[in-house]
Amino acid sequence: MKEKLEQIKAEAIAQIRAADVPERLNDVRVKFLGKKGELTAVLKGMKDVAPEERPKVGQLVNDTRAAIEALLEESKTKMERAIREQKMKEEVIDVTLPSKKNIMGHRHPNTIAQEEVERIFVGMGYEVIEGPEVEYDEYNFEKLNIPADHPAKDEQDTFYINKEIVLRTQTSPVQARIMEQGNLPIRMISPGRVFRSDEVDATHSPSFHQIEGLVIDKNISFADLKGTLEVFAKELFGPETKTKFRPHHFPFTEPSAEVDVSCFKCGGKGCRFCKGSGWIEILGCGMVHPHVLEMCGIDPEVYGGFAFGVGLERIALLKYEIDDMRLLYENDVRFLKQF
Ligand code: DAH
Repeated sequence: MKEKLEQIKAEAIAQIRAADVPERLNDVRVKFLGKKGELTAVLKGMKDVAPEERPKVGQLVNDTRAAIEALLEESKTKMERAIREQKMKEEVIDVTLPSKKNIMGHRHPNTIAQEEVERIFVGMGYEVIEGPEVEYDEYNFEKLNIPADHPAKDEQDTFYINKEIVLRTQTSPVQARIMEQGNLPIRMISPGRVFRSDEVDATHSPSFHQIEGLVIDKNISFADLKGTLEVFAKELFGPETKTKFRPHHFPFTEPSAEVDVSCFKCGGKGCRFCKGSGWIEILGCGMVHPHVLEMCGIDPEVYGGFAFGVGLERIALLKYEIDDMRLLYENDVRFLKQF
């Protein structure tokens, strides 16, 4: 028995020494120490050993196992260290080589303009809220005082999903959604994508962006609207900017106005940029129509407010003096990287 164990040990040592990769070592472990291994076979033969000899033989088997295990472990550690060292040698980094240039993208002019508008209104205490691009006709039109037969519906012809669901033509439906929630007062802006079945040209696209604004509280007057939009225009186009409110019609505001700003290029004298008029139209606005308040569950005798809607592309085109809206959607890096 003793010779047998010595022989197993010698064989195991020889095979461990001969192993060149960690997987071979594992093979040796299985072959000698595994369930069907040679040492286990010896243990199974213990029943043939005289009872008084058994403790001695058992001890011998254990010693042999321990010796093989220790050698396996040692070889494995050595082997792994050698592999690591080899890898380190191969992966030497030459810190004197010039670095690779990372080409970084950057923000789109629309995004820059949107963040600028958000910064201005958040500074005045407004929340930024998003609404769905796929919207119920009810919110896009009905609740904004645009019933089925209203001509304003023609002007904002859009893409219908079915009779009740449209791709929103304006961000104004977010007004109705927020008012309906009934958490008053409200002071919010809502930027987002809108859709109309317009042909593509230098100033039109079937998909563009607006930023809606809404304030609902007690004692809000047209003076608040004027003051707010004046601050906005000065922040966006510079402190010299003047604003002009021209009467207009929107179904969901009464009274309504369009706002022009003095041309920031010529200061109002008239130039190619403002088409000689000295003024540039930037948004629509007005006092929220009492009927709209009612439809959204707000008592117009107690609460009132104002709303406005800005075309985001228009702001981007003006601010960065881009003369064709299509450039914004082509994603040509030579164009985009100028901003
Ligand atoms: N939704 C209007 C449009 O797309 C713009 C607008 C005008 C929004 C007046 C308003 C507003 O909130 O008060 O033409």
